[in-house]
Amino acid sequence: MTATADNFDLVILGGGSGGYACAFRAAELGMRVALVEKDKVGGTCLHRGCIPTKALLHAAEIADSARDGARFGVKTTFESVDMSGVHAYKDGVIGRLYKGLQGLVKSHDITFVEGTGRLSSPTTVTVDDRVLTGKNIVLATGSYAKTLPGVEVGGRIVTSDQALSLEEVPSRVIVLGGGVIGVEFASVFASFGSEVTIVEALPRLVAAEDEAISKQLERAFKKRKIKALTGAKLASATQSGDEVTVTLESGDTLTADLLLVAVGRGPVTDGLGYEDAGVTLDRGYVVTDERCRTSVPGVFAVGDIVPGLQLAHRGFAQGIFVAEEIADKQPAAIEESGIPRVTYCDPEIASVGLTEAAAREKYGEVTTYDYNLGGNGKSQILQTQGFVKVVRADGGAVVGVHMIGARMGEQVGEAQLIVGWEAVPDDVATMIHAHPTQNEALGEAHLALAGKPLHAHA
Ligand code: NAI
Repeated sequence: MTATADNFDLVILGGGSGGYACAFRAAELGMRVALVEKDKVGGTCLHRGCIPTKALLHAAEIADSARDGARFGVKTTFESVDMSGVHAYKDGVIGRLYKGLQGLVKSHDITFVEGTGRLSSPTTVTVDDRVLTGKNIVLATGSYAKTLPGVEVGGRIVTSDQALSLEEVPSRVIVLGGGVIGVEFASVFASFGSEVTIVEALPRLVAAEDEAISKQLERAFKKRKIKALTGAKLASATQSGDEVTVTLESGDTLTADLLLVAVGRGPVTDGLGYEDAGVTLDRGYVVTDERCRTSVPGVFAVGDIVPGLQLAHRGFAQGIFVAEEIADKQPAAIEESGIPRVTYCDPEIASVGLTEAAAREKYGEVTTYDYNLGGNGKSQILQTQGFVKVVRADGGAVVGVHMIGARMGEQVGEAQLIVGWEAVPDDVATMIHAHPTQNEALGEAHLALAGKPLHAHA
């Protein structure tokens, strides 16, 4: 490769959701793009995150259906989970998507550079002895699974990285952290037949969600025999032989075959030359303004290295945004509170906008309505419990929607339009929702808020 060939309009460091989305959009806009990736295009989301975990959760659902046939009058028996079969299914899904993504890199005519890149100046990324020069640079190096001081990952102590490829179903699992990763894996393990205990330092599971959601999830998990120790702080974790022992600050000890550490994800920014090039970091995260600009002109950052929600679709949106910003398309800034959130445990959680508590803080008076899925035909057919909670700023627009129940993740699309378009309940009440769908529950909640409840008991 000649030196001139290594001059690009855009050099992107990291080929995960944020990086490749940026690369595709920039290429569509006519830019010459280099995408640097040390592992595989697709990053955490495709290879170690969203996709494999949702495949595990789907296998978990199949296991539960096999157990639960009798509830629906169908005679089924659950035999066992064959982890090699689960992995073959999961890896097949990843493999097909990975192939598709590689095809898209090619068809967009992007220069894919395999290797560990480093920001060597405000306009260059160095990969081994190759120097890629960009008129603009995008940092998109993602995140890693954190652990706690004194909790050494290895053997029977794992993070989500290793938990994705266990050879056997552990009989007893302790999940440290009752956030998104913690509750999703707890759900998988319980469905696969493990005895699960979650240890969460905060007073409730999924603490970033509306309090009512946490309560309902805790109730549902209890029914599923998933034990949740909330307000429980870890003192130490040790392993010996075929057991891991967790000691809590209260002095209580727990033993299990596996300890899954799910205490958050940290930014991958260490040793990549960011600070040397003048990029301001804050506790390892890259500081940006609302236009994804770092402290160095021409250098942008997207995805999990930017403080905020660590979600693949936020990365996609930021990547596209930056490509359009560079092309001077003047895209509208991304509103963080409008980003939908789905947690795929059973029952599923989906939310967008403000929790009731956050709305009260922002607007003072708010009105809320909880529509119980007990009144929703399709949810009854599925035999699931939960609700749709709508939060309305006093007399005004809907500012938050919070849902829980089997398959409710699929309802987040309409919820985000309602919040994003600042609809008032009357706007939604005039929309006809198809019957019998779980989507009706959203419609019914807004009908009730608009003063004309239909299948509502409260
Ligand atoms: P998280 O921040 O959601 O949860 C970590 C939990 O660990 C918190 O509840 C925290 O209080 C707890 N914790 C921290 N230290 C502790 C200690 N010493 N003892 C007990 N508990 C402790 O982080 P998580 O679950 O690791 O996920 C990382 C990121 O990945 C999140 O930002 C999440 O949004 C994203 N993700 C998103 C998914 C989705 O959208 N479905 C799925 C999986 C991850």
